[in-house]
Amino acid sequence: PDAPRINPSILSADFVNMQRDLERIAGADFVHVDVMDNHFVPNLTFGPQMVERIQATSPVPLDVHLMISDADRWAPGYAELGAASVTFHLEAAVDPIALARRIRDIGARVGIALKPDSPAEQLYDHLDEFDQILVMTVEPGFGGQSFREDMMPKLSALRAEARRRGSEVWLQVDGGIAPGTIEQAAAAGADTFVAGSAVFGATDIDARIAQLRSLATQ
Ligand code: DX5
Ligand code: ZN
Repeated sequence: PDAPRINPSILSADFVNMQRDLERIAGADFVHVDVMDNHFVPNLTFGPQMVERIQATSPVPLDVHLMISDADRWAPGYAELGAASVTFHLEAAVDPIALARRIRDIGARVGIALKPDSPAEQLYDHLDEFDQILVMTVEPGFGGQSFREDMMPKLSALRAEARRRGSEVWLQVDGGIAPGTIEQAAAAGADTFVAGSAVFGATDIDARIAQLRSLATQ
């Protein structure tokens, strides 16, 4: 398998020093960009205008995580501005497969995200439609929450299903990922790890990214 991917979440960055903080995570695989609309989740971050500037500034490719309602309408715009991957929530899309195909047609990788209460079985027959599946390990909306260990069975079941079907879909986890929890997510089959507070709260960010990568290597 590929080396584990570490995607720092800029939700924990300093929003008025975004360029500086993007440069601080130049050693990461992707920068995880959390778009929130105060409707799908009870928090608000930024929209396409800001993400376009992040795209122009970031030394690493963008992994956009849309926590917004009406994904069918808004998600393709993030692919058009050049994000490497665009992930929308299954709960927020009317026609997830049609939307996934549109995002791929624009040229981005496409991801589908599941809140903790959403089962994964409904995706089993459609793994080929997605490049990554995001298993949320917290209720989406805020950084700094505790890792939901009870999501590990969902993750292992997805890993088993992907293996059984010969799918190369990436399995991403987001929420409470840090030394001490990343090992469990890796053991359950995740290969792509989002970490906000664990990265930006570290005194040595490069060392923290390296540490997370090494702890996630099985
Ligand atoms: C939460 C966001 C996460 C958040 C994770 O809804 O999707 O990406 O930044 O933050 P930590 O790693 O602090 O749990
Ligand atoms: Zn996220």
